[in-house]
Amino acid sequence: MYHPPNDQVAIPTDAASIARGKHLVEAVAVCTICHGANLGGKLAFQDSFLGRGYTSNLTSGRGGVGRTYSNADWIRSIRYGVRPDGHGILFMPSDYFNKITDADIGAIIAYLKSLPPIDNTRTRVEIRLPARLLIDLGTFGDVVRAAKIDFQAPRPKPPDNEGKYLVDVGGCTFCHGADLAGGQGPEPGAPAGTDLTRGGPLSRWSLPDFTSTMRNGVDPAGHAIDPKYMPWLGYRNMSDSELQAIWQYLRSLPAGNHTGANVTAPSRSRLS
Ligand code: HEC
Ligand code: HEC
Repeated sequence: MYHPPNDQVAIPTDAASIARGKHLVEAVAVCTICHGANLGGKLAFQDSFLGRGYTSNLTSGRGGVGRTYSNADWIRSIRYGVRPDGHGILFMPSDYFNKITDADIGAIIAYLKSLPPIDNTRTRVEIRLPARLLIDLGTFGDVVRAAKIDFQAPRPKPPDNEGKYLVDVGGCTFCHGADLAGGQGPEPGAPAGTDLTRGGPLSRWSLPDFTSTMRNGVDPAGHAIDPKYMPWLGYRNMSDSELQAIWQYLRSLPAGNHTGANVTAPSRSRLS
């Protein structure tokens, strides 16, 4: 059982905040990649050992958490990865969402509460018994991301570097390494996450090269990027100025020393 803090966050109701929430959900935090385009939950991964990963229905339809969730429940789940009953949420990368500011988490919740109801009751990760035992023993590493989150840390302040904020909330380090100098995502068979620092191939790119790669999934060398391994179908919806801010931040990073990949669980699952 986890006991995250009981953060008080104002949940706005105005149209601009709801639009901001929708944008964060679809283009930056890419909740839709795992919870489905209508956020009603979907089969996000399937593995012969692990089981089937159905994701939660975030709407207020049948089987949806929006039916019962209080504002405090929303905040605990997204920011700390903890369900209303105190259990850690499996696989969901809340350690990235932990960086979302109060204003943005309020906007996200406002948007989620405005979703049209979707009926879908098959919304749980169905872990097979041997894997469940390994998870309970902690052998599966950081499947329960709540365990990685510092509940005592100060609440995130409005960012002074927008590019870094978007990289943090967008979870780029999940696959591109803690220092963004190259890493390995969770998908078996996935190519290595590219070195995004000035030590890597992006050192030869222009801003339009970067924007076009993020929007179209084809890099300047003509290499097509599989959206199963790199969620550009979400990121493509970032604005020009957001992509520019990320680009400037990446440009400011020192070349990495390639000390190894940042391998994170679920190492055997298939996220798609
Ligand atoms: C990498 C995949 C992934 C991403 C991205 C993701 N989630 Fe999840 N989420 C999951 C999974 C898997 C579960 C269900 C785990 C389980 O059954 O224990 C879950 C559960 C939840 C729950 C808990 C529901 C409950 O049953 O109490 C909420 C709320 C939630 N997600 C909201 C979000 C929001 C909001 C975002 C974007 C900011 C997001 N998720 C992004 C995978 C993801
Ligand atoms: C779930 C894993 C994952 C996440 C999250 C992720 N990436 Fe990637 N990314 C990859 C992989 C894997 C590749 C290499 C794909 C290939 O070689 O086909 C890649 C490739 C790229 C490329 C193209 C590099 C090249 O030389 O073609 C860019 C640019 C990029 N990512 C930027 C980002 C940014 C910026 C973020 C965060 C907003 C991000 N990625 C988040 C996995 C990810």
